[in-house]
Amino acid sequence: MVGSDLVVFDQPAALARWSDLQRQSGKRVAIVPTMGALHDGHLSLVAEARRRADVVIVSIFVNPLQFDRRDDFDDYPRSIDDDLAICRKLGVDVVYAPVASTMYPDDFETHVEPGPLGDVLEGPPRPGHFRGVTTVVAKLFGAARPHVAIFGEKDYQQLRIIRRMAIDLDMQIEVVGAATVREPDGLAMSSRNRRLSSADRIAAVCVPRALAAMAAAYADGDLDCGHLQEIGRAVIAAEPRARLEQLTIVDADSLAPLSALDHTGGIGLALIAVWFGEIRLIDNRRFVG
Ligand code: PAF
Repeated sequence: MVGSDLVVFDQPAALARWSDLQRQSGKRVAIVPTMGALHDGHLSLVAEARRRADVVIVSIFVNPLQFDRRDDFDDYPRSIDDDLAICRKLGVDVVYAPVASTMYPDDFETHVEPGPLGDVLEGPPRPGHFRGVTTVVAKLFGAARPHVAIFGEKDYQQLRIIRRMAIDLDMQIEVVGAATVREPDGLAMSSRNRRLSSADRIAAVCVPRALAAMAAAYADGDLDCGHLQEIGRAVIAAEPRARLEQLTIVDADSLAPLSALDHTGGIGLALIAVWFGEIRLIDNRRFVG
């Protein structure tokens, strides 16, 4: 029966031993790193992992190092029993769910520092966030020894930084981005959505709408990034419950701001971060020619 054999590890050495055995028997190993509170977006990451590997590890760890606000860490949704049931149903082979003192014992002192990709966009407003992400992902890679790792494209800057880290540190791990999964009204799926009040949940549709308005203007021939950003900002400004943190069109590789697009769309990507009360949502959209 699918999923009847889910194995749960909470120690890195046990996971590493299991993974080494898989590799020795010629199997390709995938990891889907998560902070739990699994939703349909995660399910598509697991499906992508399954397409690319023989065995799939899901890690579940709410990483204190990547939260710049204590209340956000405390309030982050945790649902380990539901998550395990979902993993079992999906036929995941292993869940790795360490506790914080295993990940970061008292004498822990080494961190992975991202380069310039971590200093732009979401970096400055969230001090230490990307350093926390690269550090925990390096540890997860070290324990899981995967051939391939799957991350959601919703967290686009994170994906770029992790891909860079895997190359720079010679990790020999293929870092794959999986397309964002959306609610029927277009809101990108996120564990944070369940913390929105019902009024904010309704209001949050302005985020994908802002990106759609920009994409429509681009499709009508508007190539000026300043103008396209104004169009997106106007959509957010029209929603009184929303507070825009940033909306920028960047080069999808370097994350450098662009002043103009061309008719092929190519590498232009709009990144947006919007607050609803205490909840910060992010999304992005490529400009397609
Ligand atoms: O995207 C997330 O859920 C987290 O940032 C990650 C990659 C699991 C690291 O904690």
